[in-house]
Amino acid sequence: MARRVLHDEYFKKAKADGYAARSAYKLLEIQKRHRLLREGDRVLDIGCAPGSWMQVTSEIIGDAGRIVGVDLKPVRLALAPNVTTVVGDIEQTDPQELFDIAGGAFDVVLSDMAPNTSGHGDDLVSARLCREVLAVAMKTLREGGKLAMKILEGSEYPAVLSETKAVFRVAKGLKPKATRDASREMFIIAEGFRSPGLDS
Ligand SMILES: C[S@@+](CC[C@H](N)C(=O)[O-])C[C@H]1O[C@@H](n2cnc3c(N)ncnc32)[C@H](O)[C@@H]1O
Repeated sequence: MARRVLHDEYFKKAKADGYAARSAYKLLEIQKRHRLLREGDRVLDIGCAPGSWMQVTSEIIGDAGRIVGVDLKPVRLALAPNVTTVVGDIEQTDPQELFDIAGGAFDVVLSDMAPNTSGHGDDLVSARLCREVLAVAMKTLREGGKLAMKILEGSEYPAVLSETKAVFRVAKGLKPKATRDASREMFIIAEGFRSPGLDS
């Protein structure tokens, strides 16, 4: 019951604050704790619809920054001129296309992708999507860049966290307050991307 109240509170707050979804508060908390985004950043937002993370990101990076969003669904929000969205499946998208739209390597890769919940094996699909995010990050993130990606906790979570640690200086799990307690949703936050092939 208390969880449902919290969920509804964030839902109402998002409406009042003009955000497209209550997910906005998860990114705001991640930003408060980790300062991932900075003014002028180039940001890739994977699983960007309906668009609240792009709204939060826009406020932080300002006009000098750039956002490229990708989602299976179109984004219906009015977006700033420095935001471009691509409709498509990230597993079928050429990372070079995203790099080219941004005009260079990304400073930050975000992913709030969630599989369609089926009740069984969702955590495995989520882990597969995270591995895809890591593969895209390897091709598009700048040296020293940052990452925040959603994962449903399950048997693959420790392996995905170690795979993230292998290519970033630091990586850890975070469960934002705006995430419902009963949910297995976590975020892996990583900083200090080390491009494969460079000496550490
Ligand atoms: C929780 S929503 C994201 C909310 C968004 N961060 C916001 O703040 O508005 C998850 C999104 O992931 C997208 N998604 C799931 N699988 C995807 C895939 N393979 N490629 C691209 N987007 C995907 C869904 O279409 C959905 O819009």
